[in-house]
Amino acid sequence: MTEEFRYQQLEKWLLKGLQQQRWPLGERLPSIRTLCQLQQVSKATVLHAYQRLEAMGLIESRPKIGYFVLKPNQYDLAIPQTRGEVRPPALATISEVFTDIMTRSAAFDLLSNQMPANQDLLNQAPSSQTPGLTALNRSIGRALRRQRSGQSQYYDPPTGDEGFREQLALHYQRRGYACHRDQFCATSGCQNALFLGLMATCKKGDVVAVESPCFYGMLQLLDQLELQVVEIPSSVTEGMDMVALAEALEQWPIRACVVSPAFSTPTGACLSDTARRTLLNLAEHYDLAIIEDDIYADTSFSQAPEPLKALDQNQRVILCSSFSKSLSRDLRLGWIAGGRWQSKIQRIKLVTQLASSRYLQQGVADFMQEGGYMAHIRRYKLDLRQRRDQLLQFLRHDWPPHIRFSQPNGGLALWLELEEDYNSLSVYRKALSQGIVITPGALFSVSGQYHNCLRLSFAHNWTPARIKALKQLAQL
Ligand SMILES: Cc1ncc(COP(=O)(O)O)c(C=O)c1O
Repeated sequence: MTEEFRYQQLEKWLLKGLQQQRWPLGERLPSIRTLCQLQQVSKATVLHAYQRLEAMGLIESRPKIGYFVLKPNQYDLAIPQTRGEVRPPALATISEVFTDIMTRSAAFDLLSNQMPANQDLLNQAPSSQTPGLTALNRSIGRALRRQRSGQSQYYDPPTGDEGFREQLALHYQRRGYACHRDQFCATSGCQNALFLGLMATCKKGDVVAVESPCFYGMLQLLDQLELQVVEIPSSVTEGMDMVALAEALEQWPIRACVVSPAFSTPTGACLSDTARRTLLNLAEHYDLAIIEDDIYADTSFSQAPEPLKALDQNQRVILCSSFSKSLSRDLRLGWIAGGRWQSKIQRIKLVTQLASSRYLQQGVADFMQEGGYMAHIRRYKLDLRQRRDQLLQFLRHDWPPHIRFSQPNGGLALWLELEEDYNSLSVYRKALSQGIVITPGALFSVSGQYHNCLRLSFAHNWTPARIKALKQLAQL
């Protein structure tokens, strides 16, 4: 039997205390120093245990004050890992209705700006231009002015601008991934990176394992590439169930596995250290490519978790990400670090896209180098946490008491589960007729699951118009 680490023992002790309500809801947990003395452990051990409990949504850290107990949600304490049945691989087929919903839901806003009825409301709202975006625009403007006249007649190399990739490498080094700029290739957003990853590792008809519920954009890609999907049950707190994945790998010839270890959408789940190691071992054993969608990591309310790629000794992880969730969706700038498939990925990028915009990459590199990105992220996380807390408050006060919801510590949305007979697709239609856009749970599966679930976003400010929309939704 493997011996438990001190932080695991401490985590169990804290969990038991939480279950027995030793520290009531909302109360401050013992300080780090007190726990060190009480349990005879180091500060790092206490921090590690607290961070893991925070990742499970059981406690939250308030900067410079301490750690506090969150409302125990059935998802967190009472419900064990979801262990649904794994269905055999099937082609992903996405209907037109879903494509329409996806287009509206991609904005993560209850009040879509594509609906004429909402234009006035959104125009009345104060501009959400943050200081970070103003600085970014300045950096991009400077980069544009620096371009020499002849440059616009040449393509950038397919891998992308060296200075941009250098900044990416520095950013990831801070997150524990010892990398070099040459391991990255610029892409047109994360969706494009995921597409390149799938193209490089799979061919038509191959089987791909995904989390369930799964990001609908990935299901769309699998549909487009005529790949088969195996949906692996995933917990709302800890992500993909590794036992279920191992069973699926035993049964079917799975080529690739797509995971979002940090704040997976729609649930906001984070993969534990143990699950990450298991996943890499399984990949080695079954000759699997792992496509890591890292797009939400920088929205983490506390320190951004290490990417899975940091543990990847055998170059099996293809890291994909972009600035769409942490800075701007409109940049259309992302990246991919493809491990053993990198040169194939670069070739596919060349064939499908030729190059990325040079001045945009240079502008973003300048913004990062000047510290603008980190400063923006620091402010943005505080806003996001506040918006999440507000949404949790609304759900507790205005929504029926039996609903269950995840309490993610990062990302832009939470996952709501209603009664079995609730049909979020029909509510979607009713809500739309009132100018409100929700993301029905059915979108996150290709096998008809999650009809009684919803993804609710906290990406935008809770203006009076959005609060009203949320109340109307509770009535529906
Ligand atoms: C998990 C996930 N991956 C990828 C994307 C696409 O990102 P991008 O806008 O960078 O293409 C999204 C956007 O919604 C997403 O939620």
